[in-house]
Amino acid sequence: MLYIGVDLGTSAVKLLLMDEKGAIQKIVSREYPLAFPNPGWSEQNPEDWLKETVAGIRELTAECDRSQIAGIGCGGQMHGLVVLDKDDKVLRPAILWNDGRTAEETEYLNTVVGKETLSRYTANIAFAGFTAPKLLWMRKHEPELFGRIEKIMLPKDYLNYMLTGVHCTDVSDASGMLLFDVAHKCWSREMLDICGVKESQMAKIFESYEVVGTLKPDMAQALGLPETVKVCAGAGDNAAAAVGTATVGDGRCNISLGTSGTIFISSEHFGVDPHNALHAFAHADGHYHLMGCMLSAASCNKWWMDEIIGTKDYAAEQSPITDDKLGRNHVFFLPYLMGERSPHNDPSARGTFIGLTMDASRADMTQAVLEGVAFGMRDSLEVARALGLHIPRSKICGGGARSPLWRKIFANVLNLDIDVLETEEGPGYGGAILAAVACGEYPSVEAAADALVHVTDTVHPDPEIAARYEAQYQKFRAIYPTVKDLFPLLQG
Ligand code: XUL
Repeated sequence: MLYIGVDLGTSAVKLLLMDEKGAIQKIVSREYPLAFPNPGWSEQNPEDWLKETVAGIRELTAECDRSQIAGIGCGGQMHGLVVLDKDDKVLRPAILWNDGRTAEETEYLNTVVGKETLSRYTANIAFAGFTAPKLLWMRKHEPELFGRIEKIMLPKDYLNYMLTGVHCTDVSDASGMLLFDVAHKCWSREMLDICGVKESQMAKIFESYEVVGTLKPDMAQALGLPETVKVCAGAGDNAAAAVGTATVGDGRCNISLGTSGTIFISSEHFGVDPHNALHAFAHADGHYHLMGCMLSAASCNKWWMDEIIGTKDYAAEQSPITDDKLGRNHVFFLPYLMGERSPHNDPSARGTFIGLTMDASRADMTQAVLEGVAFGMRDSLEVARALGLHIPRSKICGGGARSPLWRKIFANVLNLDIDVLETEEGPGYGGAILAAVACGEYPSVEAAADALVHVTDTVHPDPEIAARYEAQYQKFRAIYPTVKDLFPLLQG
């Protein structure tokens, strides 16, 4: 049988076709626009997601025997607010995970409701990108639209709703709304009250590997697929990527280098970071995880390459950065182009080059961008280490994971063995695996991921380079506290 994995990302939807043995038969990617209507705001049109997903599935399945397609599973960008009216019309563009407009609402939640209370209700505190502060923002700034909300959903749940007619979500994605009681895997009535919404507006909750429904007849026709195709609940893109990299069960780690950058630690038991710097969410394998999220990761390099230097040849730009240069750069970069989530929780933080001299070269600045993202990730790893978690190695996935130089920088900055996988299509591959489990091909997510995911290489830290990076990291971590008070002053 065949399974379709959908990675509903921020720049594009990536779709892949996987057979029951885990072999990827085809990959298709289709872009859609991303709007920044104000500095720090970030929006997308859910109808664009649907249009490109439908066209993408048609393209993906054009040459295969479509009667063999058994299931679809989606890993989707998390936290985005999608609101529909009584006629299922999208009420406003989706407000995305990296949108920073809710500084005031986040502050209200964390200080007036209080972090302790939030953590008791949901296992998490408020971050600007989470869904609950967006609802508060909408209630204040768009009361008329807010009054017309019939259904509240997350990005991939909009796709699943359009495909099946079932208003559903899964435990991993629901965890990022700050409306979900992660420990008990149900909506938090207290949080719904605080945000002025009713449980009837919320989705039915599933485990990620459960079937939510089959294709609606009109959708089956639009896709050219049988109506019997099952759609599973899917997962937030990080939990899906964790499945796609076999970061399941207890104590495994995955680093995702996409538009965002995340460090994801799987756990068989529910647990909360007492300082709430790491998110405590449910996992797509039926258990839990801790996660640190950087709002700009591979997107920092993309911005530097595409917008500033003006090149598409990333490898050529990275080629002068040889081993002797690693850990010796006097230029530093704070990767906070969209503010920062973990661990600073500061929507007003901004990207910064510091340490420039007359002899600083373009390659030094390129290196600083790559290193800045790795140092930012180390900040979250340090939080995990301080909790006593033993993390000797990590998988890596996402577009940024394709760069051998960046993988080496990560291994040395984090001082971890980094396992490279056969496919770095984390969320799409994880989505397809979840669909295979939902269709009964494998007995559990862990069994499927362990059978299908293969490590092809491991990057080991070099003791000398790692020691140099240790000293560099201590300098990096001093920069943000020194400049952070400037960021609000720099804004309009
Ligand atoms: C995770 C997060 C991002 C998005 C990216 O908390 O906000 O990783 O899921 O799509």
